[in-house]
Amino acid sequence: MAAQAVDTDAILRSLTLDEKISLLAGANFWETVGIPSKGVPSIKTTDGPNGCRGADIDGGTKAACFPAASNVAATFDPDLARRIGAALAQEARTKGARVLLGPTVCCHRHPLGGRNFESFSEDPLLTGTLATALIKGLQEDGGVAACIKHFVANEQETARMSVDETIGERALREIYLRPFEMAVREAAPWSLMTAYNLVNGVHCDSHDWLLRDVLRGEWGWDGAVISDWGGTNSVAGSINAGLDLEMPGPAGVRTLQTVRAALEAGEVTEETITERAAALLKLIHRVGGLEGTSPAGEKAVDRPEHRALIREVGARGMVLLKNEGDLLPLTKEKVKGKKIALIGLAKDALAHGGGSASVNAHYKVSPWDGLHAALGDSAEFVYAKGAHRQRLLPPLSKDSTAAGSVTGLDGQPGFTRLLYEAGANPEPSSTLHGYPSSAYSPLGSQESLNRVVELVGDFTPTESGAHYMACSGIGATTVFVDDTIVFRQTRNSADPMGALFMAASEDLFRHDFAAGRAHRIRVRTEPPTDVGMRILEGRSGARLGFRLASEHDADLRGEAERVAREADLAIVFTGHDPQWESEGRDQDSFALPNGQNELVAAVARANPHTVVVNATGVAVAMPWLADVRAVVQAWFAGQECGNAVTDVLTGAVNPEGHLPVSFPRRIEDAPAHGNFPGEYDVDGGGPLRVTYAEGVFVGYRHYDRLSREDVVNFAFGHGLSYTSFQLGGLRVEPSGGTGGDEFVVTAQVTNTGALPGGVAVQVYVGSAAKPLEHPVKTLVAYQKARLQPGEAQSVRLVVKGRDMAHFDEKARAWVLEAGTYHFSVGFSSVDIKEKAAVTIEQQRVYPLKWRG
Ligand code: BGC
Repeated sequence: MAAQAVDTDAILRSLTLDEKISLLAGANFWETVGIPSKGVPSIKTTDGPNGCRGADIDGGTKAACFPAASNVAATFDPDLARRIGAALAQEARTKGARVLLGPTVCCHRHPLGGRNFESFSEDPLLTGTLATALIKGLQEDGGVAACIKHFVANEQETARMSVDETIGERALREIYLRPFEMAVREAAPWSLMTAYNLVNGVHCDSHDWLLRDVLRGEWGWDGAVISDWGGTNSVAGSINAGLDLEMPGPAGVRTLQTVRAALEAGEVTEETITERAAALLKLIHRVGGLEGTSPAGEKAVDRPEHRALIREVGARGMVLLKNEGDLLPLTKEKVKGKKIALIGLAKDALAHGGGSASVNAHYKVSPWDGLHAALGDSAEFVYAKGAHRQRLLPPLSKDSTAAGSVTGLDGQPGFTRLLYEAGANPEPSSTLHGYPSSAYSPLGSQESLNRVVELVGDFTPTESGAHYMACSGIGATTVFVDDTIVFRQTRNSADPMGALFMAASEDLFRHDFAAGRAHRIRVRTEPPTDVGMRILEGRSGARLGFRLASEHDADLRGEAERVAREADLAIVFTGHDPQWESEGRDQDSFALPNGQNELVAAVARANPHTVVVNATGVAVAMPWLADVRAVVQAWFAGQECGNAVTDVLTGAVNPEGHLPVSFPRRIEDAPAHGNFPGEYDVDGGGPLRVTYAEGVFVGYRHYDRLSREDVVNFAFGHGLSYTSFQLGGLRVEPSGGTGGDEFVVTAQVTNTGALPGGVAVQVYVGSAAKPLEHPVKTLVAYQKARLQPGEAQSVRLVVKGRDMAHFDEKARAWVLEAGTYHFSVGFSSVDIKEKAAVTIEQQRVYPLKWRG
């Protein structure tokens, strides 16, 4: 280790001031700056939390798509998280990357949070333990660093780059900082990404208190701090606070000139610049960058062991929410000769959410394919679409064969793209074959910067009559058909961030086309200015969607009802396509989109044996809950999602997942309701402001305090099995560990049913006095037990005093007050099986730098 330290020191000493400054921002979108003459290589980063997508944002190198974090969290199994981490490291290597931009550990504050799916849970302990395990797995072989994100409090996407969040120190410490603290102290991730938002008036990348005092000071962390992409908001401020690397590159904020100017003005010192460069060098060194080997280029390596792991974790993390009359599992014997209607998103593999957590998966298995493979020789399957899946109309491309074909100006299939300076003559630049409407890649298309983009093609429809179209551009955009304007957007998109991720709504319009005739379509979009996002400024991009009116207006629900009525059993697949649950935009509604609730209700009316399989990363409204027999929460389970769902439905895997988030009945009862996503200043000119008024009462910490029993459909920690379990024999004893500051909790769990199965034993602690200022109870430990029928297991868990303490804002320390505490064990936050009282004789105080 000593010799290695000398290496980086020597390199650092050899660097000129300008070279050190150059290291403080990236070289390009994914890589750091290299200084080969001084032996400093550039290293590559890659998204993201559930797969390594490599350099291309759209349709890049194929990659393994792992289950999203909310699915992993529902396993309540850190060992599975560790194995995912190790597999992600292997994947990162295949993309030549040495830093993986994940895991995402922000807590789920509100069910409408657009990125909740890529975070684990509403509970900081569950999040912290799983993130710790995942990071250990990721970094265990060296060579790949975790970049834990987004530090801190990135719980919403609305105005994510400018929202100012008012959060009390207690809530910050107990809920939002806690998973970071646990992971930093226990797994030491080698890098960390700051959040876009402001916390208490200061942008996170420039936040002295967060970065210098808490992260590096109190927690003693020695890794590299990286800004979120486009989230560096100051020169001197960020350098002084401790942000080591501005991303993406090339430098936008930290140019040679701006940093030199800050130095000359006395706003930063060379010593601080050296410290920042040293942190980056340390990261490069830690991932083996100084060993002189350069990582290979991007490859798609589809490993059988990754396939198996993805399927296993996906299935083990699915949650059986309801199973009336044991309708499930659908064994071969049970379904023999039966007709099963697969309705809704049955042929769609909802493998991942939208944004940087999406990958170009090696393949995706739909439930339709999975169920056919498992039960195709026993049952007959019929299908009805029931509802449209996406938010946007599909792009008009040469693949839209049902609608017609498009030919560019060069006679080739697709659109021709013209680029020109405003006011100048158009010059054909390229024909966009096959995927013309993905022109929303403003970031990827350097050539379109500050230029007008025009997409021109001749569309020859197969059907006459009205066709639906939808269009949106980041800047002002016009659509012409046969030289007539059919759509005009005179300003920038109302939601450029959402538009960038294809998650913002578009205006729909109709136009009459004649079958067999070539109609010239032109989409003209201006370079946007004043977007409010540096990375989108001047980037022209537009998207055109298209759907046949006959398809758009078809009575999908009526057809589904008919199909369901004629079947013995109906399974409705509901959920969020990535356009509905994505980075860049919060959910529009608690109701499932595109009429899916009405679809379930109609199917349930038509068939008394209706099952719902819901693929979302969040809780959704379930107004039909009483009318269906069974419900499975399937999350976004990665590329094997259809097989994993099948394993759970058929009983090949006995469901053992538990909810990592509460499922409220009404959004109005959610703790942050009324304070999400915040409010703009009255005159509309200021930033969005949000107050975390619920404080520490997030998730079950809030629902536990409400007296109404029907407030949640399903509680935090809930999850059924095809077998049954008993839990008892709770004992809580102080132990000698950490200065007598630990409690050993033991309990007996027994499989009382007829099948092997797993269950998460959960331990909660709360003060017996139930003071109003504290949660009734909080999760302090858990363990997944897997048992054969009749088998009993003793579960032994250690709880530290610090894990039972609260943060006292006045004392500015963690305090465990004297008094009686209830330890409770159960199978969910409301399904408590036994309680034991423990008395703490004397108040215990844990200072900020305390390490247990
Ligand atoms: C996201 C990050 C991501 C980065 C690079 C940002 O928009 O917030 O999570 O790692 O882009 O894609």
